Amino acid sequence: MNARRLAHLLGNWRRHGSRQGATDLAAGLRLLILDGRLPAGTALPPERELATALDVSRTMISAAWEKLKTDGLVVSRRGAGSWTAIPAVGGAHEPLEDPGTIDMARAVPPAIAGIAAAAAAATPRLAAELCSHGYYEQGMPDLRERLAARYSARGLPTTPDQILVTNGAHSGLATALRLFTGPGDRVLIEQPTYPNAIEAILGAHTVPVPVAMTDGADGAGWDLDGIEATLRQTAPRLAYLIVDFQNPTGHRLDEPGRAHLAAAFRRARTPVVIDETNVDLDFSGAPLPPFNGDLVLAAGSAGKSYWGGLRLGWVRASTEIINRLTAARRGFDLGTPVFEQLVLCELLDGPPEPMLDRRRLLVERRDALAGLLRTHCPDWTFTVPDGGLSLWCRLPAPVSTRLAAVAQNFGVRVAPGSFFTPHGGLEHYLRVPYTQPVDVLGDAVLGLAAAAASVAESRAPIAENGFIPVT
Ligand SMILES: Cc1ncc(COP(=O)(O)O)c(C=O)c1O
Repeated sequence: MNARRLAHLLGNWRRHGSRQGATDLAAGLRLLILDGRLPAGTALPPERELATALDVSRTMISAAWEKLKTDGLVVSRRGAGSWTAIPAVGGAHEPLEDPGTIDMARAVPPAIAGIAAAAAAATPRLAAELCSHGYYEQGMPDLRERLAARYSARGLPTTPDQILVTNGAHSGLATALRLFTGPGDRVLIEQPTYPNAIEAILGAHTVPVPVAMTDGADGAGWDLDGIEATLRQTAPRLAYLIVDFQNPTGHRLDEPGRAHLAAAFRRARTPVVIDETNVDLDFSGAPLPPFNGDLVLAAGSAGKSYWGGLRLGWVRASTEIINRLTAARRGFDLGTPVFEQLVLCELLDGPPEPMLDRRRLLVERRDALAGLLRTHCPDWTFTVPDGGLSLWCRLPAPVSTRLAAVAQNFGVRVAPGSFFTPHGGLEHYLRVPYTQPVDVLGDAVLGLAAAAASVAESRAPIAENGFIPVT
C-alpha cells in the first residue's frame, strides 16, 4: 500500500484542533484494519513517505505505529517494514472497543422486559427435558406450535410441520443457501441490503445480483419491474428480500407490491427468503399479511422482537421445503439450544405489554433522532419509517465512508452506505439507528455533525459522482 493511497483511505483522520495527532492517526488506522479495508498482512508504507503524504512529522507516525503495535494491529521487523495484523484473541491486549465510543453501527435494541422472568418460568420445564436426548433438529414441538399459530393469526394458515427453528434468521438464510444453491449460482438481493446477508451469500460462493431500491419523489421502495426483469435475465437460484421495514431503508412493501412479486417468483420458480426480522417492530398499527407463495421461505427472528442473545429464529415454508431444510441443516448443525426454546415459548405466551412498550420506546427514539438530525445536520434528508430501527440518511455529498472513518475520531461508530452493497458505492447514504437512549442519540448526532463538518472542510478531493480521483 503506497503512502498516497493510505492517506486517501484515512481521509480526514485528525480531530478538529486536536493536539493528539498520534492518537487520532492510530484511531483512523484501527478503523481501516478492523473494517477489513486494510486486510491483515497489508504492508504499510515507509514512515518517511507517509509523513510526507500526511504532512506530519515522522515522530508522529512512529508514535501511532507504537500504539497500534500495543493493540496487536501492526507488527514490524527491523529492516523489513511494518504490516497490519489482527490480534490474537485472548491475549493481554487492551479491549479493542473503546468504551467511550457510541456504537451506532449496530441497529439492535436491548432485551425486551421480561426475559429474566421468562427464563425463571422456563426452568421447571427444563427438568422434564433433561431425561430426553435434547436434539430437536426441526425445533421443539411446543415452540413450533406457537410459531405456527402466530402465522395463522397473521392470516397465513400454518401447521407446526411448516416451521423449522433455527439459530436466528441469519441461520435460516444460511440453511436456504445450503439447500438451494451451489458455487457460482446467482442470488437476487435488494440494494442496499443487510450486510451480513451479503456475507452469507459470498460465503456460500454464490454471486449476489443486486436490484437497486428506488428513491424517487414518486415513491421509494422496490423496483418491481426491475426485480421481474432480473429474474428473467439472470435466472437466480434464490432471492433474499426484506419486505417489512427493510434494513437499512426502513421501507415496507405494500400489499399490491407483495402480490406482484409473489406472482413473479412463482412464474420464475425461484425460491425466495423473506426476512421478517423487523416484522414485530411495526409502529403503523396496520400490519400487512405475510408475503405468501409456495416457494416462499419466511425467515423470522426473536432477535429484534425479544433479544438477539437468545439466538433464535425460524423458517416458515411448505412442509416439503421444511423437510429438505431440516435435512440440509444436518450438514452443519444439529438443532437449537433447548433452554432458549423454552424461554421463547414463555415469551410468546406472555402478555402483549412488553412488545407495546418496546414499540412506544422506539417511536420516541425515532422521533428524537429525526429532530436531532434536522437541527444539527439540516442538509441530511430521510424518510421517517413506520417501523424498524434506523433512518437511512441521504448526505449532501458522496462522503459516507470518509464520514464514518472520521466519526470514530468524534467518538461515534456508524455504518456507511458502502457496507450495504456487495460492490461498494452508496456513498451518499449513512444508516443511523435509533436504538440507543435519547441522551446517547444526542451525543451521537453531535459527534456525527462535527465529523460531517470536518469532512466538508477536508481538502481531499472527491468528485460529486463519488469517484476518488487517483493518478
Ligand atoms: C435484516 C436482518 N436480518 C437478519 C438479522 C439477524 O437476525 P438473527 O439475529 O435472528 O440472526 C438482522 C440483525 O440485525 C437483520 O437486521
